[in-house]
Parts: sequence; structure tokens; C-alpha cells
Amino acid sequence: MRILVAGDRGYIGCVLVPFLQAAGHDVDGLDTGLYEGCDFGPSPTEAGSRPRIDIRDVDAHDVEGYDAVACLAALSNDPLGHFSPSTTYSVNLDGTLRLARAAKAAGVGRFVFASSCSLYGAAGSEAVAEDAELFPVTPYGETKVLVERELSSLADDTFSPTYLRNATAYGASPRLRLDIVVNNLTAVALTTGEVRLESDGSPWRPLVHIEDISRAFQAVLEAPLDVVHDEAFNVGLPEDNVQIRDVAEMVCAAVPGSKVSFAEGAGPDLRNYRVDFSKLHDTFPQLGLRWTVKDGIEELVARYYEHHFTYDDFISSRFVRLRRINQLIAGGFINEELRWTLNGIPRSAEVAFAI
Ligand SMILES: NC(=O)c1ccc[n+]([C@@H]2O[C@H](COP(=O)([O-])OP(=O)(O)OC[C@H]3O[C@@H](n4cnc5c(N)ncnc54)[C@H](O)[C@@H]3O)[C@@H](O)[C@H]2O)c1
Repeated sequence: MRILVAGDRGYIGCVLVPFLQAAGHDVDGLDTGLYEGCDFGPSPTEAGSRPRIDIRDVDAHDVEGYDAVACLAALSNDPLGHFSPSTTYSVNLDGTLRLARAAKAAGVGRFVFASSCSLYGAAGSEAVAEDAELFPVTPYGETKVLVERELSSLADDTFSPTYLRNATAYGASPRLRLDIVVNNLTAVALTTGEVRLESDGSPWRPLVHIEDISRAFQAVLEAPLDVVHDEAFNVGLPEDNVQIRDVAEMVCAAVPGSKVSFAEGAGPDLRNYRVDFSKLHDTFPQLGLRWTVKDGIEELVARYYEHHFTYDDFISSRFVRLRRINQLIAGGFINEELRWTLNGIPRSAEVAFAI
């Protein structure tokens, strides 16, 4: 199958692309390259030799000839969404829909959207299934709800969108992110000896390893169309619905000498939800998601040691999306709409210098 992965140069994309290639697919990438040079260990391999493309500028000819598009390209978390709600809407909603319409016009039959369990937002402690009412509590979560709704209206005999509502990801990637909870707590424990919680640790959060997200993408991409047409699937494992304080304890167990601490005034977090993953596992009984949070923490610890990860790395802009965006804006490389500035797309060396 010929697959175009939009957002192939990010945290999940850099793991998904080789995963799909290893499964025998022909994969290209399409990305504006906001995090070029933000590498953890060796640079990720290129999916295809395409120039930087913004999904807000895509046309049908950019997606012609593919059997499927997997859309990961987005401003990928809540702090980025708060930074500029209008830019979040323009990339995450308008950009994704432009890509989907281009795909449909070009005759691409499948469109797999990287949605998020965060659209359940403030659901509370009852596990929510795909048909639950949605309570997004951030602009980021709102765009995920709106994209799913709009993609659904494009679904017909020629175009099958599928919505993978991923739990919060964890695990090592050549484009590591430290603004997600498991990766963050493990890194802070290793570099400071403290597992520092910004909330009181009581919120429930569903978690999933990025390799297991890749397994779900592969299953949906290869499934008969009638199984996945206009369907949403929560992606994760029931046992990886955990309270943040449990993650902190697992991190302490994996990082000898570390202890839990709480940020001053830490209270409960608005984002609090448990997720029911039955539909995914009933639909794809052979899926075999295999990572546990404990194994993921141990993997991260091993990779942090392997790449000689330091406190300076921890506080750098390389692994925190909002910091990196602010740095690119401050350096004049991109504007407030997160478009590369008119002096042209900067050479890699210039971007690397800005890190
Ligand atoms: N990481 C998680 O915990 C998680 C959980 C649920 C859902 N998701 C979703 O999965 C997707 C990927 O997440 P990630 O963690 O890999 O994020 P990421 O920020 O690491 O990667 C996003 C990629 O999209 C690209 N991009 C951003 N704006 C673009 C634009 N206008 N045009 C083209 N490319 C653009 C970036 O350059 C980057 O390479 C996102 O849609 C995110 O919302 C992630």
C-alpha cells in the first residue's frame, strides 16, 4: 500500500514510518519541519524526499497516487493550543480538512486521523467509550472534536475516514517529546532525583506506547473498509488507565534514589478521564498491543543513559514543543502563524544553531 504520513517528522511519525515500512508499505512523508534538528540520539531517517509542505497549503497533486493518508500533522498538545488558539484552529482544523479534501479530490480512499482521548476532557472517573459525550477542555481538544465531525461529513463510497483517539503517548523516539507525562517524569527523575508533579497526582489519564499507536495505525490501514469506514477507535490498553501518582511511583522504582515532590499549590488537573478500549480490541482481536507503562519507563531510562541525557537537555527547547516554537518565533525563523518567514525556509544549519 502507498501511504502518505503527514507529520512524519514528529514524535510519533518518526516511529510510525519505519514501523509501516517494516510491514511492507511504501511510505512518504509530508511535514513543515518545525522540529528539525530536535533529535534524541541519531537523526530519524527520511520517509521520502519531499520538501517542507504546510498542510494548510496542500493541493490534490500533493496527495495523488496514494492509497491512504495518515494525518499526524498538528500543533500537538494543550500548551501549544493555549499559546495561540487561532493558530491551533488554523493548523489543526483548517489544515487537516484541507488535506482531507485534497485527498478525496485525488481519489485517496482512506484517511486515518490522529485524534486524541483528550476530547473526553473532563469526563471524570467512569471509563468512556467512543459514543460518550465529548467534553474537550482546551482549544486542542476542541479541534479534535471538530475535525472528526467534519471528516465524517466527507465520508462516502469513495472516501473512508477513521479516527484513532490515541491515549497520551509515551516511549522513546528519535524526536522525543518531554511535554508528555511519562517521558517528562522519567527525565526529571533522572536529571534531578525528583519526580515533580504539577498536579496533586489524582487525575486519571489513559496512556499508550508509540509503538502500540503504530500497531493500531497499521491495523486500521490494512482493515477492510467496511470495518473502519467513518469509525472512531480509542487506542490504548485498559490497564494503562492510570493515576498520575501511580506513574510517579513507577518512575521512582525505575530511577533509584528519586522521590516524588509536588509543585507549590498543586491541585487536581481539569483533564481527568478513564477510557474504555474494548471497541479496538473487539474489532482487531489479533492486534496485540504489548507495552506497559512500567516497560516504557524502563525503555526510557535505558535510552536516556545511552544518549547521555543531561539536565541541560531536559531544560533545552529540543524536546518541549512550545519552547521550540517560541524559540523559532524569537529567532525570526517562523511567524506567529507558524509559517517559515519570507527570507525563505532556513537551512538546516541555521535551524540547528537556533536550538
Ligand atoms: N503524543 C501524544 O501523546 C498524542 C496523543 C494523542 C494524539 N496525538 C496526536 O498525534 C499527532 C502527532 O503527535 P506527535 O506527538 O507526534 O506531535 P509532534 O508535535 O511531535 O509532531 C507533529 C508534526 O506535525 C508537523 N506539523 C505541525 N504543523 C504542521 C503544518 N501546518 N503542516 C505540516 N506539518 C505540520 C510538525 O512539524 C511535527 O513534525 C498529533 O495530531 C497529535 O495531536 C498525540
